[in-house]
Amino acid sequence: MQVIRALQDADVESVIQMDKTCFPDPWTKEMWKGELSRSDARGLVVEQDGQIVGFALTTVLFEDAELPKIAVQPTCRGLGLGKILLCALEKTAKDCGAERMFLEVRAGNIPARKLYEGNGYETLRVRKKYYPDGEDALEMQKRL
Ligand SMILES: CC(C)(COP(=O)(O)OP(=O)(O)OC[C@H]1O[C@@H](n2cnc3c(N)ncnc32)[C@H](O)[C@@H]1OP(=O)(O)O)[C@@H](O)C(=O)NCCC(=O)NCCS
Repeated sequence: MQVIRALQDADVESVIQMDKTCFPDPWTKEMWKGELSRSDARGLVVEQDGQIVGFALTTVLFEDAELPKIAVQPTCRGLGLGKILLCALEKTAKDCGAERMFLEVRAGNIPARKLYEGNGYETLRVRKKYYPDGEDALEMQKRL
């Protein structure tokens, strides 16, 4: 049984740990604190059997929302949780007035690209060698 709910202060340590597990370039604690203290930031977590197994973050500025991070714990991937989180995050952004969602994804991140492309995101442009390791980024957008 999954529960989607707002990210709370008590969840931050778990989310920081999951960020380290899920991303090659995780945010520091200070970066997380900075992002979560923004008045335009909204975070969600997904719980399974009382454990946080995924999180997602959006920031909303007028009609434009951004999706800086979404992740599902490795042992819980491929079960539809990413899609559930993404849909819930889009609704959260829309409720805050957003009309579009923007994100960047590594060109080689096939699971994430499948998630986004399967949920209506289109590539706006390719940013060559965008990441420090030289990988390209795709800038994607969806009209909410
Ligand atoms: C991207 C991520 C959040 C997807 O989470 P998930 O719970 O596995 O996603 P879902 O189970 O909801 O799958 C969503 C779609 O992606 C596809 N997909 C998921 N994993 C896949 C894989 N390894 N290979 C190919 N397709 C994959 C699914 O088939 C599904 O497509 P469908 O709806 O057409 O069947 C997860 O892989 C992750 O946390 N990755 C590390 C962090 C990351 O890269 N985040 C995104 C960049 S910000």
